Amino acid sequence: MTQEKLKELLQDMSLEEKIGQMIQLPANVLTGDGLVTGPTGTTQLTEEQVGMAGSVLGIKGAEKLYELQKRQMEKQPHHIPLLFMLDVINGYETIFPIPLALGCTFSPEMAEESCSAAAAEAAASGLHVTFSPMLDLVRDARWGRVMESPGEDPYLNSEIGKAMVRGYQGDLRQKDKVAACLKHFAGYGYPEGGRDYDNVELSEHTFMEDYLPAYEAAVKEGCRLAMTSFNTIDRIPSSGNKRLLRGILREKMGFEGVVISDYSAVEEMVFHGVAADAREAAKLGIEAGVDIDMVSNAYAGHLAELVRSGEVPEKLVDEAVWRILQLKNDLGLFEEPFRVTDSSLAKELLLCEDFRRKARETAAASFVLLKNEGILPLRKCPDSGEEREQALSCGETHSGEKKEAEDGSVAWIGPYVDNREIYGAWSFPERPEETVTVKQGVEGKGLPRMSFAQGCYLMDKGCATKFGRVPNPSGGQEEEWMEEALKLAASNSRVVLCLGEHKDLSGEAGSRTSLGLPDGQMELLRRVRQVNPNIVTVLFCGRPLAVKEIAELSKALLVVWMPGTEGGNAVADVLFGDRVPQGKLSMTFPRSLGQVPVYYNHLSTGRPNLPNEIHIFKNGYLDEVTAPLYPFGYGLSYTEFAYSEVRLDRQEMKAGERITASVTVTNTGDADGVETVQLYLRDPAASVARPVRTLKGFKKVSLAPKESREVSFVIEEPMLRFYDSGMRYTSEPGSFEVLIGGSSDTENRAEFSLLPA
Ligand code: BGC
Repeated sequence: MTQEKLKELLQDMSLEEKIGQMIQLPANVLTGDGLVTGPTGTTQLTEEQVGMAGSVLGIKGAEKLYELQKRQMEKQPHHIPLLFMLDVINGYETIFPIPLALGCTFSPEMAEESCSAAAAEAAASGLHVTFSPMLDLVRDARWGRVMESPGEDPYLNSEIGKAMVRGYQGDLRQKDKVAACLKHFAGYGYPEGGRDYDNVELSEHTFMEDYLPAYEAAVKEGCRLAMTSFNTIDRIPSSGNKRLLRGILREKMGFEGVVISDYSAVEEMVFHGVAADAREAAKLGIEAGVDIDMVSNAYAGHLAELVRSGEVPEKLVDEAVWRILQLKNDLGLFEEPFRVTDSSLAKELLLCEDFRRKARETAAASFVLLKNEGILPLRKCPDSGEEREQALSCGETHSGEKKEAEDGSVAWIGPYVDNREIYGAWSFPERPEETVTVKQGVEGKGLPRMSFAQGCYLMDKGCATKFGRVPNPSGGQEEEWMEEALKLAASNSRVVLCLGEHKDLSGEAGSRTSLGLPDGQMELLRRVRQVNPNIVTVLFCGRPLAVKEIAELSKALLVVWMPGTEGGNAVADVLFGDRVPQGKLSMTFPRSLGQVPVYYNHLSTGRPNLPNEIHIFKNGYLDEVTAPLYPFGYGLSYTEFAYSEVRLDRQEMKAGERITASVTVTNTGDADGVETVQLYLRDPAASVARPVRTLKGFKKVSLAPKESREVSFVIEEPMLRFYDSGMRYTSEPGSFEVLIGGSSDTENRAEFSLLPA
């Protein structure tokens, strides 16, 4: 539709009709089913209002959407099509690894491809908008929604976020694309105590410098929608925060798209105590700049009357509706309200070979090897013949250590061995049976001497009951399972323990006060260890866990997060060395819960402690060092990499000039490897305290055994900017440190100076 026609349409719409566009209904209001992720508001909608609603959320399936669109368009006075929105967070039907794992790939290319696949599946199923990417910076593993973020670093989150937007949206008119919605604006990732929906306390500096960049990167990439967050910032809930939405998002960042509230967040301002009732909440919402009220019905109940009474200028409604109509128009909905009419397209695309292959590659690349005492990769030991002789005779690991005699037998034990629920809290596959379990992945390798046992329940009883899951359906199985597991552990040369937290323990409302595994799983680990020390632990989780004891009791520890549809294949690929582990942590693993929040780019203090030492009257704890167990950027390979010292092509530069920093990276082992080379900068003296280091670049290199490669980064003055003491975004002349290595704790550094302009 031309812009003139669109304007005519807007002018022709009644106030009620316009407000209808600003109302989003949960699917169950229209269809009786669908996803419900929160409470709705107090207003009861009339049938007419339901008929005029502009968008619907939480519904899946091409045929259902087709019917609904047809029905609603008949009721809508101008036959304006609905927008269908859903949380397609890490895949639609082919499920990819959770976003926190995607962060660990350090691969914007993979992020883009995975979102492109998700968009194609979602669009073929009739959806128009995905509520993704979530770019809330995360520092507190108690908060269950860390699983939905690429991690703790502003730069990494920005790069992954941009790639996700590109992957979803591409050219929006193309039928295999959906509009993206960045969320949750703003600062939702740092709720007090890690409690979901809680207040967020951040200094202006931290908010601007650490929390805003990833959202801004997505805006600059052209992200079409933005969702408000549930929390308050500086005591104002985001859905009523004019300074945040109109000031920072629209004016400062240049966002021109649609702002949607989070689920019921407009009316929830009453509970926040900033609005007396839903009417006042609706007024606050529209004044702040919320275009669509997601399900609270405060707009439906009160906006028309607020306009008629003159309290809200109609201009605000027109502006909001204009943005919504523009989005519908850019999606081509006025010409093709169904966008896809051929449901065979969905059948062809959903879970197709190509997407599954990508999901498998991405999952494998997201796994982070935290520890390996020469036990991985597992040897593929054929049953007989020359190959078997050879396999048995190779007595050394890749790192040159002697391997113990083994016959290639492996006992696969634990509640995640034969479990399909490995796709993360925000995945709703219609065909969960398509998910490949670890057992299936291992069986797919066709190796002899593999045996499998459950060992224990995934959840302890109390927890499982709370989630409506029956922990022990047939009763009294725990001891039998344990005995069977111990027998297998004792009679095989290696044990792979597949442990982890249940997918519902992370995600929305998935906050926890402990970061450990359930008691039953820990007991299994301890008892297996007594009969066989050759343990590889594979950890499924949606957040960093406190894994000190698990790491101590295991010879290898591989974190596989929630890996998705091809999870089991990817686990088998990596454990048997068909793919190399290459993930690097996108979020720090603490030593214990007490260290949380713990993140690498913290400020220095007046009394810094050495990271691995405890000195009294210095920053830190009496009973624990300040260094985490595994820092951001950390992750091992099946080989080792040596870094040369950092070389700079010059020691000084002015604004407008550049310095090239280089290292030579060598694969010193005898296996292929992929390394993520990371560039950090440090500003040791500035007008405000600066982080001890910040990530400014990364590059992935594949290296064959003994191969070396020079890796270079360009450093320019904008990379040295920060908010100074007067909140100006600027750089200050002086000396800087460049650190380049394979993890955020690298000490490989050089110095340069920024000269006054
Ligand atoms: C979540 C959002 C989500 C929305 C719609 C809310 O509860 O906070 O992230 O997009 O529900 O499902």
